[in-house]
Amino acid sequence: MKIVKAEGKFSIDLKKTIVLVGIMGAGKTTIGKNLADRLQLQFLDADKEIEEAAGCTISEFFEKYGEEEFRKGEERVISRILGGNPCVLATGGGAFISQATRLLIKKTATSLWLRVSFEVLAKRLKKRAGRPLLQTSDPDKTLRLLMEERYPIYSEADITVDAGDDAIDETVVKTVKCLEDYYCFSKKLV
Ligand code: S3P
Repeated sequence: MKIVKAEGKFSIDLKKTIVLVGIMGAGKTTIGKNLADRLQLQFLDADKEIEEAAGCTISEFFEKYGEEEFRKGEERVISRILGGNPCVLATGGGAFISQATRLLIKKTATSLWLRVSFEVLAKRLKKRAGRPLLQTSDPDKTLRLLMEERYPIYSEADITVDAGDDAIDETVVKTVKCLEDYYCFSKKLV
């Protein structure tokens, strides 16, 4: 497996989809889009696909049907995407936490965790609404609890990238480097 660089772009002969996992606000969509562009691959966003399939926003889905139904829909959508051509896929923060979806990702894709500190996340999430799980009386406390619960599970991903407050470009370059190391050392079919 080789990642070939030419004129600032990379080309990669990908056998498995690269799935970005991590908590809300980790930058999965932003980094995913840029990474896909660099690697000249298609980019898909699981939450966006769910919204299109359901005909409503994620918040509306949670309100109407609750989290359990959302997880089932999420698993269906991710399963469909992983059955298609290899691409870069950003997932919602709970996708890799749900056991069924996690097993599916582990079996058929290369998972990459964007690990971000509480301080960076709290700052980013204050600026953005639309996260049903953070609609609590103390969103910072909820975020800390979610991190405690979820970080050990995200750490099961094939690759971990520390994605702090760096510029997007820097994080993307770091991510490409981590992918190269992984493909080189694991000698797996990717
Ligand atoms: C969720 C994260 C959200 C979205 C939904 C549930 C979670 O995606 O899928 O609100 O369980 O952490 P982002 O991580 O893109 O915000």
